[in-house]
Amino acid sequence: LNDKLPIPLKILVNSMKNVVNSFVPSGKIVQLVDQKLPGLLDNLSGPFEEEMKGIADVTEIPLGEIISFNIFYEFFTICTSIITEDKEGKYMWNVNNNTWVVTEELKPLTVNLDFQRNNKTVFKATSFAGYVGMLTGFKPGLFSLTLNERFSMNGGYIGILEWILGKKDAMWIGFITRSVLENSTSYEEAKNILTKTKLLAPAYFILGGNQSGEGCVITRERKDSLDVYELDPKNGRWYVVQTNYDRWKSPFFLDDRRTPTKMCLNRTTQENLSFSTLYDVLSTKPLTVFTTLIDVTKGHYETYLRDCPDPCIGW
Ligand SMILES: *[C@@H]1O[C@H](CO)[C@@H](O)[C@H](O)[C@H]1NC(C)=O
Ligand SMILES: *[C@@H]1O[C@H](CO)[C@@H](O)[C@H](O)[C@H]1NC(C)=O
Ligand SMILES: *[C@@H]1O[C@H](CO)[C@@H](O)[C@H](O)[C@H]1NC(C)=O
Ligand SMILES: *[C@@H]1O[C@H](CO)[C@@H](O)[C@H](O)[C@H]1NC(C)=O
Ligand SMILES: *[C@@H]1O[C@H](CO)[C@@H](O)[C@H](O)[C@H]1NC(C)=O
Ligand SMILES: *[C@@H]1O[C@H](CO)[C@@H](O)[C@H](O)[C@H]1NC(C)=O
Ligand SMILES: *[C@@H]1O[C@H](CO)[C@@H](O)[C@H](O)[C@H]1NC(C)=O
Repeated sequence: LNDKLPIPLKILVNSMKNVVNSFVPSGKIVQLVDQKLPGLLDNLSGPFEEEMKGIADVTEIPLGEIISFNIFYEFFTICTSIITEDKEGKYMWNVNNNTWVVTEELKPLTVNLDFQRNNKTVFKATSFAGYVGMLTGFKPGLFSLTLNERFSMNGGYIGILEWILGKKDAMWIGFITRSVLENSTSYEEAKNILTKTKLLAPAYFILGGNQSGEGCVITRERKDSLDVYELDPKNGRWYVVQTNYDRWKSPFFLDDRRTPTKMCLNRTTQENLSFSTLYDVLSTKPLTVFTTLIDVTKGHYETYLRDCPDPCIGW
């Protein structure tokens, strides 16, 4: 956390407040959040409370605002659900150059992290400075894990409300991903935890292992896992593709990244898969803030910041 960090972090936190205030102009929500957020720290297991307090100290940003940034996955399932519904997105969409405001503001905060214990890498990840959860990362030699946003009517706001009202038995999305990267020691263990733990918001987890056939997309509701879709190379399923829509449903018509990605993978063929061909595949319709390429077995990990010129939704 260098001394330039507080500026982009403050800008982002202010944008989040503006978005909320533009939906509920009375300012009541922000007030509620400011007063109630410190209560969210009760019963957080693991290092999260201490780390958020540390970040608030170092950046001199109020703890409540640091917490609000750290629940931004849950926050965005609310905002993007609303935006997807009214198809306008006028609050978060920069009409001057057609970019997502928050996506642009996240870019300067994007960092590659190497988490070490006793000077040895435990996992590597790409995240946002000031955010103690993880969205994308891998444990060299063992598994890779990525989170995709999932919209659902039974969305994150119910989970947050339950938490604020005192029912604190579910995990924050970014925190479970961090815990798995930090403490799980195999693909199977990671899959088991990601399938069974109760969550605050719906999500897709994309997990890859170190053996042929170890790769799956887990579609999660808050309580249950709806679907675990696995690689099956013996039967020709050598890839699984996940964007921000359930695989058994049609994607939102303005945002079909699934079909072009599959066509492109089919054209590439399994034999020709490499970081450079995959990067091209992921460029057919670039997704949001960054693109990450991971080779679990060789331990290679590369992240590229992306521009997202079309109205692409989610990450
Ligand atoms: C915190 O967790 C403990 C034990 O798991 C439980 O007894 C307590 O009620 C929880 N507190 C809140 C505020 O949920
Ligand atoms: C990982 O496990 C250690 C030891 O049990 C624990 O102290 C730490 O909080 C865990 N990390 C996370 C992110 O849950
Ligand atoms: C879009 O405009 C905003 C401010 O108006 C600026 O911060 C951002 O860098 C621009 N994005 C691109 C991709 O030009
Ligand atoms: C880790 O590495 C640093 C510098 O490379 C060294 O000073 C330190 O003693 C090492 N710590 C451990 C626990 O090995
Ligand atoms: C692959 O992962 C398993 C745990 O899921 C581990 O026991 C095994 O050593 C790993 N294999 C290699 C070649 O790293
Ligand atoms: C990709 O190839 C698979 C297997 O041949 C086929 O079932 C699928 O329809 C193809 N998808 C696209 C989008 O071309
Ligand atoms: C696979 O790669 C080779 C060598 O780079 C190239 O000659 C060949 O055309 C590629 N095949 C496909 C299907 O793209």
